[in-house]
Amino acid sequence: MRSKIVAGNWKMNKNLEETEALLAELAAKLPDTKAEVMVAPTYVNLGAAVRNLETSRIEVIAQNMHFAESGAYTGEISADMLLNIGVDTCIIGHSERRAYFGETDEILAKKVKTALGKGIRVMFCFGEELEDRKSGNHFNVVESQLKNALFSLENSDWSKIILAYEPVWAIGTGETASPEQAQEMHAFIRKTISEAFDSSIASNVSILYGGSVKPGNAEEIFSKPDVDGGLIGGASLVSDDFVAIINAI
Ligand code: G3H
Repeated sequence: MRSKIVAGNWKMNKNLEETEALLAELAAKLPDTKAEVMVAPTYVNLGAAVRNLETSRIEVIAQNMHFAESGAYTGEISADMLLNIGVDTCIIGHSERRAYFGETDEILAKKVKTALGKGIRVMFCFGEELEDRKSGNHFNVVESQLKNALFSLENSDWSKIILAYEPVWAIGTGETASPEQAQEMHAFIRKTISEAFDSSIASNVSILYGGSVKPGNAEEIFSKPDVDGGLIGGASLVSDDFVAIINAI
């Protein structure tokens, strides 16, 4: 049975005081929900976030990690470092990492392998660019992103995978994929996984939608049968908006 999940990706926003203030607001306002609720503050505030949420059911997750065990990788963070501070879920493959930091499918495959090997749950992000959508190539792009990074996994690894479909043209643009477009792609993703692995893996993996989800459109997007929640950027930085989105699930 797959989980409903609402995750907030804070990206490079909020200093320590702002992080603690937003976490306190979220912890106080968190509605009674069956959904897993996650927030991904920036690296320097991860440890503080874990401590601040000790008594809350909000989970702190990381935005990125390196594939190497340890060593001379200036500026990077390892899987063990995340586990050491109590973080055991990590976003991998966000389109901003792909676009601005040169993360290829090959690098992402290594990160996924390391994360799973360490027992870290992976929230794997992928999605097509506007040109792909306009040229009708979006299904091919999504299929190859999945295949290149995830299709060498063992069946058992899939219990530690969350998928987040994020069409790049909808991220931070205010332009959301329609609920029908989201459903169509999520169903395609499930079919692709079912064909490559088996139908129970496909039906048990949570597939989140990300890209300009707001309080005003969340309910309709989340109502679609293959949409299991959302990965929220901008709207997760405002507690009332994030809580309204959690309430929409
Ligand atoms: O990780 C979150 C996504 O990039 C969506 O961001 O809600 O600001 O469009 P957004």
